[in-house]
Amino acid sequence: MKAPASLPLQFNHRSEEEMIHRSQTFANEMFTRRSVRRFSKKAIPREVILNAVKTAGSAPSGANRQPWHFAVVSNMDVKRDIRQAAEEVERAFYAGKAPDRWLRALSPLGTGPEKPFLTDASHLITIFLQKFSRDDHDEIRQHYYMQESVGIAIGMLITALHHAGVGTLTYTPTPMRFLNRILQRPDSERAVMILVAGYPSVDATVPTIQRKEPDQFISWFW
Ligand SMILES: Cc1cc2nc3c(=O)[nH]c(=O)nc-3n(C[C@H](O)[C@H](O)[C@H](O)COP(=O)(O)O)c2cc1C
Repeated sequence: MKAPASLPLQFNHRSEEEMIHRSQTFANEMFTRRSVRRFSKKAIPREVILNAVKTAGSAPSGANRQPWHFAVVSNMDVKRDIRQAAEEVERAFYAGKAPDRWLRALSPLGTGPEKPFLTDASHLITIFLQKFSRDDHDEIRQHYYMQESVGIAIGMLITALHHAGVGTLTYTPTPMRFLNRILQRPDSERAVMILVAGYPSVDATVPTIQRKEPDQFISWFW
Protein backbone atom coordinates (compact mmCIF):
# COMPACT_ATOMS: atom_id res chain seq x y z
CA MET A 1 0.00 0.00 0.00
CA LYS A 2 1.30 3.44 -0.91
CA ALA A 3 2.21 5.56 2.12
CA PRO A 4 0.12 8.73 2.43
CA ALA A 5 1.83 11.87 1.15
CA SER A 6 3.40 13.85 3.95
CA LEU A 7 5.16 17.15 4.48
CA PRO A 8 7.59 18.39 7.10
CA LEU A 9 5.68 19.80 10.08
CA GLN A 10 5.78 23.58 10.42
CA PHE A 11 5.99 24.18 14.17
CA ASN A 12 6.92 27.26 16.12
CA HIS A 13 9.35 26.14 18.83
CA ARG A 14 9.48 28.67 21.70
CA SER A 15 11.52 29.02 24.86
CA GLU A 16 9.88 27.90 28.12
CA GLU A 17 9.93 31.49 29.29
CA GLU A 18 8.05 32.65 26.23
CA MET A 19 5.58 29.77 26.54
CA ILE A 20 4.79 30.67 30.15
CA HIS A 21 4.37 34.33 29.26
CA ARG A 22 2.17 33.66 26.25
CA SER A 23 -0.01 31.12 28.07
CA GLN A 24 -0.54 33.51 31.01
CA THR A 25 -1.34 36.48 28.78
CA PHE A 26 -3.76 34.41 26.75
CA ALA A 27 -5.45 32.96 29.84
CA ASN A 28 -5.90 36.48 31.26
CA GLU A 29 -7.48 37.56 28.00
CA MET A 30 -9.83 34.57 27.88
CA PHE A 31 -10.88 34.99 31.53
CA THR A 32 -12.53 38.27 30.49
CA ARG A 33 -14.90 36.52 28.08
CA ARG A 34 -18.55 36.72 29.15
CA SER A 35 -21.74 35.90 27.31
CA VAL A 36 -23.22 39.07 25.87
CA ARG A 37 -27.02 39.34 25.75
CA ARG A 38 -27.41 43.00 24.79
CA PHE A 39 -25.72 44.09 21.57
CA SER A 40 -25.19 47.39 19.78
CA LYS A 41 -26.31 47.68 16.17
CA LYS A 42 -22.84 48.64 14.97
CA ALA A 43 -21.48 46.37 12.23
CA ILE A 44 -18.36 44.26 12.73
CA PRO A 45 -16.06 44.29 9.66
CA ARG A 46 -16.74 41.25 7.49
CA GLU A 47 -13.05 40.40 7.40
CA VAL A 48 -12.95 39.95 11.19
CA ILE A 49 -15.82 37.47 11.01
CA LEU A 50 -14.26 35.69 8.04
CA ASN A 51 -10.91 35.30 9.84
CA ALA A 52 -12.62 33.87 12.91
CA VAL A 53 -14.67 31.39 10.86
CA LYS A 54 -11.51 30.38 8.99
CA THR A 55 -9.88 29.74 12.37
CA ALA A 56 -12.83 27.52 13.33
CA GLY A 57 -12.48 25.68 10.02
CA SER A 58 -8.90 24.74 10.95
CA ALA A 59 -10.10 22.69 13.94
CA PRO A 60 -9.12 19.05 14.22
CA SER A 61 -11.93 16.66 13.24
CA GLY A 62 -12.62 12.92 13.33
CA ALA A 63 -10.87 11.34 10.30
CA ASN A 64 -10.49 14.90 8.98
CA ARG A 65 -14.11 14.92 7.74
CA GLN A 66 -14.60 18.55 8.85
CA PRO A 67 -18.28 17.87 9.53
CA TRP A 68 -19.44 21.48 9.78
CA HIS A 69 -21.05 24.32 7.90
CA PHE A 70 -21.18 27.94 9.07
CA ALA A 71 -24.10 30.08 7.82
CA VAL A 72 -23.09 33.70 8.41
CA VAL A 73 -25.95 36.21 8.44
CA SER A 74 -25.73 39.99 8.47
CA ASN A 75 -28.77 40.56 6.22
CA MET A 76 -31.55 42.22 8.25
CA ASP A 77 -34.43 40.39 6.55
CA VAL A 78 -32.84 37.02 7.33
CA LYS A 79 -32.08 38.11 10.90
CA ARG A 80 -35.74 39.12 11.29
CA ASP A 81 -36.92 35.72 10.01
CA ILE A 82 -34.60 33.97 12.47
CA ARG A 83 -35.75 36.14 15.37
CA GLN A 84 -39.41 35.59 14.60
CA ALA A 85 -39.03 31.80 14.36
CA ALA A 86 -36.77 31.64 17.42
CA GLU A 87 -39.15 33.68 19.57
CA GLU A 88 -41.97 31.37 18.55
CA VAL A 89 -40.12 28.30 19.88
CA GLU A 90 -38.96 30.29 22.93
CA ARG A 91 -42.54 31.27 23.83
CA ALA A 92 -43.54 27.58 23.77
CA PHE A 93 -40.41 26.71 25.78
CA TYR A 94 -41.05 29.23 28.54
CA ALA A 95 -44.82 28.61 28.53
CA GLY A 96 -44.54 24.98 29.57
CA LYS A 97 -42.37 22.89 27.25
CA ALA A 98 -39.31 23.37 29.46
CA PRO A 99 -39.19 21.30 32.64
CA ASP A 100 -39.37 23.42 35.84
CA ARG A 101 -35.88 22.30 36.79
CA TRP A 102 -34.48 23.81 33.57
CA LEU A 103 -36.38 27.08 34.04
CA ARG A 104 -35.06 27.32 37.62
CA ALA A 105 -31.50 26.83 36.34
CA LEU A 106 -32.05 29.63 33.80
CA SER A 107 -33.66 32.12 36.16
CA PRO A 108 -30.40 33.66 37.53
CA LEU A 109 -29.45 34.47 33.93
CA GLY A 110 -32.57 36.58 33.48
CA THR A 111 -33.35 35.12 30.05
CA GLY A 112 -36.87 35.11 28.58
CA PRO A 113 -38.68 34.52 25.29
CA GLU A 114 -37.78 37.91 23.75
CA LYS A 115 -34.53 37.83 21.81
CA PRO A 116 -33.77 41.35 20.53
CA PHE A 117 -30.10 40.42 20.14
CA LEU A 118 -31.08 38.38 17.09
CA THR A 119 -31.79 41.56 15.14
CA ASP A 120 -29.46 43.95 17.01
CA ALA A 121 -26.18 42.02 16.80
CA SER A 122 -23.96 42.49 13.79
CA HIS A 123 -23.74 38.82 12.78
CA LEU A 124 -25.57 35.56 13.48
CA ILE A 125 -23.35 32.58 12.77
CA THR A 126 -25.30 29.34 12.72
CA ILE A 127 -23.17 26.23 13.01
CA PHE A 128 -24.51 23.11 11.34
CA LEU A 129 -23.27 19.59 12.06
CA GLN A 130 -23.06 17.45 8.92
CA LYS A 131 -24.20 13.91 9.73
CA PHE A 132 -22.56 12.63 6.55
CA SER A 133 -21.35 13.96 3.20
CA ARG A 134 -21.12 12.59 -0.35
CA ASP A 135 -18.03 11.78 -2.36
CA ASP A 136 -17.42 12.57 -6.04
CA HIS A 137 -19.50 9.51 -7.02
CA ASP A 138 -22.37 10.62 -4.81
CA GLU A 139 -21.65 7.78 -2.37
CA ILE A 140 -22.20 8.48 1.31
CA ARG A 141 -19.05 9.37 3.25
CA GLN A 142 -19.35 8.45 6.88
CA HIS A 143 -18.49 11.14 9.44
CA TYR A 144 -16.89 10.37 12.81
CA TYR A 145 -17.04 12.14 16.17
CA MET A 146 -19.17 14.88 14.62
CA GLN A 147 -20.35 16.34 17.89
CA GLU A 148 -16.85 16.51 19.35
CA SER A 149 -15.40 17.98 16.15
CA VAL A 150 -18.09 20.65 15.85
CA GLY A 151 -17.77 21.47 19.56
CA ILE A 152 -14.04 22.06 19.15
CA ALA A 153 -14.62 24.23 16.06
CA ILE A 154 -17.18 26.35 17.94
CA GLY A 155 -14.76 26.74 20.85
CA MET A 156 -12.13 27.99 18.46
CA LEU A 157 -14.63 30.36 16.85
CA ILE A 158 -15.63 31.87 20.20
CA THR A 159 -11.96 32.19 21.16
CA ALA A 160 -11.00 33.82 17.85
CA LEU A 161 -13.88 36.31 18.07
CA HIS A 162 -13.10 37.21 21.67
CA HIS A 163 -9.42 37.63 20.81
CA ALA A 164 -10.40 39.98 17.96
CA GLY A 165 -12.62 42.10 20.24
CA VAL A 166 -16.03 40.72 19.29
CA GLY A 167 -18.68 39.89 21.91
CA THR A 168 -20.53 36.59 21.55
CA LEU A 169 -23.49 34.61 22.84
CA THR A 170 -23.86 30.87 22.43
CA TYR A 171 -27.58 30.77 21.70
CA THR A 172 -29.50 27.48 21.48
CA PRO A 173 -33.25 27.74 20.85
CA THR A 174 -34.97 24.37 21.20
CA PRO A 175 -35.83 22.91 18.72
CA MET A 176 -33.70 24.46 15.96
CA ARG A 177 -35.22 22.86 12.87
CA PHE A 178 -36.41 26.24 11.58
CA LEU A 179 -32.80 27.16 10.86
CA ASN A 180 -32.53 24.53 8.09
CA ARG A 181 -35.53 26.11 6.37
CA ILE A 182 -34.46 29.74 6.72
CA LEU A 183 -30.79 29.13 5.92
CA GLN A 184 -31.53 26.59 3.16
CA ARG A 185 -29.50 23.74 4.60
CA PRO A 186 -30.18 20.07 3.75
CA ASP A 187 -31.69 17.45 6.09
CA SER A 188 -28.25 15.84 6.38
CA GLU A 189 -27.27 18.81 8.56
CA ARG A 190 -28.40 19.67 12.07
CA ALA A 191 -28.13 23.17 13.54
CA VAL A 192 -26.12 23.04 16.75
CA MET A 193 -26.08 26.67 17.79
CA ILE A 194 -26.43 30.28 16.73
CA LEU A 195 -23.30 32.14 17.71
CA VAL A 196 -24.44 35.75 18.07
CA ALA A 197 -21.54 38.10 17.37
CA GLY A 198 -21.22 41.85 17.70
CA TYR A 199 -20.25 44.78 19.90
CA PRO A 200 -21.87 44.71 23.34
CA SER A 201 -24.27 47.62 23.87
CA VAL A 202 -23.02 50.31 26.25
CA ASP A 203 -25.65 49.33 28.83
CA ALA A 204 -24.94 45.58 28.65
CA THR A 205 -24.89 43.82 32.02
CA VAL A 206 -23.92 40.26 32.95
CA PRO A 207 -25.29 38.03 35.69
CA THR A 208 -22.92 37.22 38.54
CA ILE A 209 -21.70 33.70 38.03
CA GLN A 210 -19.29 31.46 39.84
CA ARG A 211 -16.51 29.75 37.95
CA LYS A 212 -15.04 26.59 39.41
CA GLU A 213 -11.58 26.90 40.87
CA PRO A 214 -8.90 24.94 38.97
CA ASP A 215 -8.53 22.43 41.80
CA GLN A 216 -12.24 21.62 41.41
CA PHE A 217 -11.87 20.56 37.80
CA ILE A 218 -8.24 19.43 37.37
CA SER A 219 -6.64 16.24 38.67
CA TRP A 220 -2.92 15.89 38.16
CA PHE A 221 -0.85 12.72 37.97
CA TRP A 222 2.69 13.96 38.49
C1 LIG B 1 -24.06 24.84 24.71
C2 LIG B 1 -24.47 26.16 25.32
C3 LIG B 1 -25.76 26.62 25.13
C4 LIG B 1 -26.14 27.86 25.64
N1 LIG B 1 -27.39 28.36 25.35
C5 LIG B 1 -27.73 29.60 25.77
C6 LIG B 1 -28.96 30.16 25.36
O1 LIG B 1 -29.74 29.56 24.62
N2 LIG B 1 -29.27 31.42 25.80
C7 LIG B 1 -28.42 32.13 26.60
O2 LIG B 1 -28.76 33.26 26.96
N3 LIG B 1 -27.23 31.62 26.99
C8 LIG B 1 -26.85 30.38 26.58
N4 LIG B 1 -25.62 29.85 26.92
C9 LIG B 1 -24.67 30.68 27.71
C10 LIG B 1 -24.51 30.21 29.14
O3 LIG B 1 -25.65 30.54 29.91
C11 LIG B 1 -23.24 30.87 29.71
O4 LIG B 1 -22.13 30.44 28.97
C12 LIG B 1 -23.01 30.54 31.19
O5 LIG B 1 -24.04 31.06 31.97
C13 LIG B 1 -21.65 31.07 31.67
O6 LIG B 1 -21.58 32.46 31.50
P1 LIG B 1 -20.42 33.14 30.66
O7 LIG B 1 -20.53 32.62 29.23
O8 LIG B 1 -20.68 34.62 30.74
O9 LIG B 1 -19.10 32.74 31.26
C14 LIG B 1 -25.23 28.62 26.42
C15 LIG B 1 -23.93 28.11 26.63
C16 LIG B 1 -23.56 26.92 26.07
C17 LIG B 1 -22.14 26.43 26.25
